[in-house]
Amino acid sequence: MSGVDFPQGHTVTVTGGKKIPKDTEAVIVGLFSDDVADGKSTDEITRSLVTVGHDGHWKRARTVRTGDHVVLGVGLGKKSELTQDKLRQAAAIALNRLHPVSRVATTLGNVEVSANASGKAPLVSNNAAVAEGLILGSYAFDGLKTNPTPHGDCTITLVGGSKKDIEAASIRAEAVILTRDLVNTPSSHLYPETYALEAERIAHEYGLEVEVLGPKELKKQGFGGILAVGGGSARLPRLVSVTYKAGKGSTSVGLVGKGITFDTGGISIKPAGGMDDMISDMGGSASVLATAVAAARLKLPISVTAYLPMAENMPGGAAYRPGDVITHYGGITSEIRNTDAEGRLVLADGLAYASTKKHDYIIDVATLTGAQIVALGNRTSGIMGTPQLRDLLAQTGRSVGEDAWSMPITEEVRDTMKSDVADVRNMGERPGGMLSAAAYLEHFVSSKVQWAHIDIAGPSYNTGSRWGYTPKRGTGVPVRTLLAALEILAQKKKKK
Ligand code: BES
Ligand code: ZN
Ligand code: ZN
Repeated sequence: MSGVDFPQGHTVTVTGGKKIPKDTEAVIVGLFSDDVADGKSTDEITRSLVTVGHDGHWKRARTVRTGDHVVLGVGLGKKSELTQDKLRQAAAIALNRLHPVSRVATTLGNVEVSANASGKAPLVSNNAAVAEGLILGSYAFDGLKTNPTPHGDCTITLVGGSKKDIEAASIRAEAVILTRDLVNTPSSHLYPETYALEAERIAHEYGLEVEVLGPKELKKQGFGGILAVGGGSARLPRLVSVTYKAGKGSTSVGLVGKGITFDTGGISIKPAGGMDDMISDMGGSASVLATAVAAARLKLPISVTAYLPMAENMPGGAAYRPGDVITHYGGITSEIRNTDAEGRLVLADGLAYASTKKHDYIIDVATLTGAQIVALGNRTSGIMGTPQLRDLLAQTGRSVGEDAWSMPITEEVRDTMKSDVADVRNMGERPGGMLSAAAYLEHFVSSKVQWAHIDIAGPSYNTGSRWGYTPKRGTGVPVRTLLAALEILAQKKKKK
């Protein structure tokens, strides 16, 4: 069925300019609380914003009218505490205050950022960060409403922003938005067959190579994890690989993303409350697809293959059961203790497959465990794996505003994954549930590569209200982390 229309969220266009265009309706400016407090700031706009009660407090917004437009002052707080991600958030908050509006300009990209969440120099320019915040913050998903609210076009000029910077920022933001759109598409519309077709269409649009393995090929080549998980659904599984090739001899990264288009838990069925959120259980695969596409659009000097094992975890008559033993791609066997620990089973096949290709690094991304949310909350991803790559990704995540933290794979937890009847079992004990999932995955990764596993169960899907530039539902995490990491890895010397 190629007749499915994948719904797309609405967003805005950002450009650079030397000065505020004539037809501008509103201008966004930043205000530091220290400047207001010491009263030294002499510019007229700041003084009139202070008159209407602006004190520069973080996130505070006040507007004044000048001759031909509105000026919205957004509080940036203390100079010493401004991070680049706060700049992204401030831009998004300000624009949402002005909505609906069609011609906006801002000088926000010209303020100085002194602090940084990671203690390191920012990876992008301030104007690029502002562009990201504006595009990401105005995202709206109307889904499949027959009468969506009209949004109207909005163009925003970044005063002092360079064209090249803003174009790259727009490509990164569009990758985040593609991920959000795929995550927000319900499982009635996005399931392995339609998802594979859509991934193929997108890959072709941007000139990437695609391989689609259907149920027959999966069986022939022994992808026992993907087949077991997908077996309980009438909608059969797929494995899609999408490749962007940089120049000869370039470093190569394999990205493996969990693509469970819906997770009922299978025979170990989940409780009804909140089960609808499990339309987002393919967020890892969407993020690696979007990253490969953006790497191609940005022409990054590093090769990327995204592997997307897609399956729907349902309790149908042909479903796999607790107690089963399955054989993965490459021959490793798993004892099934719980059919709701399905993500690791499809990733196992994906990782084993990626390990047969010549990658220097392998990174997997997955909405893998509720334990991630217990350990780190809703906004901080857990990263495990070989220490160097793990720490690089956690650090990179923090510098781009996608919070992340390194977590260990301990011997204690490795021991809980031992099985009496197979090479490994798919569930350990309750304590350390995020770590034991990583201990499981470790079995399927070639020891010759650096590997990292990113658990995005909480951060990829916002079940609360909008905050900063993060809308409800799909967030697009960790696309910007992956793109920044690719740029860093591309610069590293290739080892022989
Ligand atoms: N998709 C879930 C994990 C999840 C939970 C993602 C909440 C987002 C929000 C995953 O497949 C799962 O069910 N994991 C189990 C593993 C357990 C049975 C070992 C879990 O976390 O409870
Ligand atoms: Zn599950
Ligand atoms: Zn799942």
